[in-house]
Amino acid sequence: MLRVAVLVSGGGTNLGALLDALKTGKIKNTEIVRVISNNPGAFALERAKSHGVEAVCISPKSFPDREAFNRALLSGLKECDPDLIVLAGFLVNIPESIVKTFKNRIINIHPSLIPSFCGKGYYGLKVHEAVLNRGVKVTGATVHFVDEGIDTGRIIAQKAVEVLPGDTPEVLQRRVMEQAEWIILPEAVAKIAAGEIKIGEA
Ligand code: GAR
Repeated sequence: MLRVAVLVSGGGTNLGALLDALKTGKIKNTEIVRVISNNPGAFALERAKSHGVEAVCISPKSFPDREAFNRALLSGLKECDPDLIVLAGFLVNIPESIVKTFKNRIINIHPSLIPSFCGKGYYGLKVHEAVLNRGVKVTGATVHFVDEGIDTGRIIAQKAVEVLPGDTPEVLQRRVMEQAEWIILPEAVAKIAAGEIKIGEA
């Protein structure tokens, strides 16, 4: 059984895609052991609970400084002993201590075709705003391993999505989710669970 911890910050539609894929058997031999949100108001926490998955909030606001928050996040992860950590719309930079402890065991979904529109400041709707401002005709999503940089780890999967005339950031975000994110993230987890993509190796 692959033990997965999912980190979230908001709506949790990618978490929803993982939960659906578990239910329908598209992802096999996998259990989501804990969902952690940095944001107490994240709807993702409700999604997890309604599927009987343990959901906890570890908010930076509950700690005196960033170091203390980072330590709490690390222990929240260690406690549930995950084989794999999935960042599913987690809008907090992962500290080096966590990357080192779970080397090659953390994957992220990013809403663009890396190396375009990624790195510092590119997250959520901001990515789609930048895509529309630049006028590119094709965007998409990427699943990648998390290393010490921002969106710099090894790429696991990508899927392209068309930008259409009249798109708003919200409309484009939804299309990228539907046509790319909700497909390639569960596929990546399924392949990891099946041993087709190796994790934890140097
Ligand atoms: C998703 O579009 C995800 O790719 C993005 O945040 C959204 C979360 O939506 N992540 C990033 O921008 C990470 N840099 P969700 O909470 O509905 O899954």
